[in-house]
Amino acid sequence: MTHAEFLTPSPSHSTAPRAEVGGQSDADYIFSDAERATLTDWLDIPLNPYREPGAFLALIRDMVDHETPTFLTELCARLSAAPVEDKVCYYLKNCPVDPEIPMLGFEDQLNEKYRLKKTFVGEAFLAVVTELMGTDIISYRTANNGDLFQDIHPMRELAHTPSQKTVDTIKFHADIPNNRVRPDWVYLLSMRNTPENKVYTVVVSLKEVFSRLSDDDISLLRQPIFYSPHDTIHVHGGQEPGFTPKKPILITEGGREYLAFFEGNTTSDDPRGLAVIDRVSAILHEIGKDFFLYERDLLVMSNNTAVHARRVDEVTNVDAHRNRWLLKTWNVDDITRHTRNLVPGKVQMSDE
Ligand SMILES: [Fe+2]
Repeated sequence: MTHAEFLTPSPSHSTAPRAEVGGQSDADYIFSDAERATLTDWLDIPLNPYREPGAFLALIRDMVDHETPTFLTELCARLSAAPVEDKVCYYLKNCPVDPEIPMLGFEDQLNEKYRLKKTFVGEAFLAVVTELMGTDIISYRTANNGDLFQDIHPMRELAHTPSQKTVDTIKFHADIPNNRVRPDWVYLLSMRNTPENKVYTVVVSLKEVFSRLSDDDISLLRQPIFYSPHDTIHVHGGQEPGFTPKKPILITEGGREYLAFFEGNTTSDDPRGLAVIDRVSAILHEIGKDFFLYERDLLVMSNNTAVHARRVDEVTNVDAHRNRWLLKTWNVDDITRHTRNLVPGKVQMSDE
């Protein structure tokens, strides 16, 4: 594969370059080196979450109940107290990750992870923060064998698909909004990255989007006049060819409002629908915050009150781009709300 194949055209609504988020002053918290060392020692537990997910989570819960360092308890209490409409993401720096992070390669990263990853500090940190924020990790039956922990890591076979394994830009979206269990949160822990390549995670507050739309636009978004081709929408469990049923973009469910939208895929037969899609897309590009996830950064994004994108602006080190690795979880606020969609006998696994 040539270098040129990694370069992704700028989105049609691209605006002038914005200052990236990623500096110390942008963080909600920066762990001191001493705090990171404390957490790394604490979280280096002898259980493999890919082989024994139930035992791993049980141990994590016991540790959280009895041993959590005060600074971490206080931090998560402060973060989780903020209204999610106003505080749509959290950005922590200098987080604990594994002392040795294996290279997974471009061909078969998942099996390489199973084979080569001998410590699970990153996974334990994600699980502990999940617990302290009052949420639960959710896995999906067909996503990475139903693992609790996912990888945003390029893979040749899926390098140009709108998936975790792409090398390309993924336009603005909420994660898997058509799944039976829609995640409320997305957690991203940066394991390996290089500033040589300009790859950003872009987050947009929906409250800010709505404040820039007219009342007429908002009511249009509530009308069932929008649809997407199935094959461009990432839904675990597979999809028949064709299109999603017509439905609103702005959906109210269980007292929450969220966007079911995938820029470039969501469309309408109604010219007014197409026009409002254009206005929403323009706003997303205008006000999105570009996070550069340095190694040991954790970005926690709401999947309800925000949408996100991944934007590949420039790749100068192709090998490093192929080895960029964000450890990821999907989380839900209350797993008991999803009991009927969980796979019996499995650990927090959704039947898609
Ligand atoms: Fe996503």
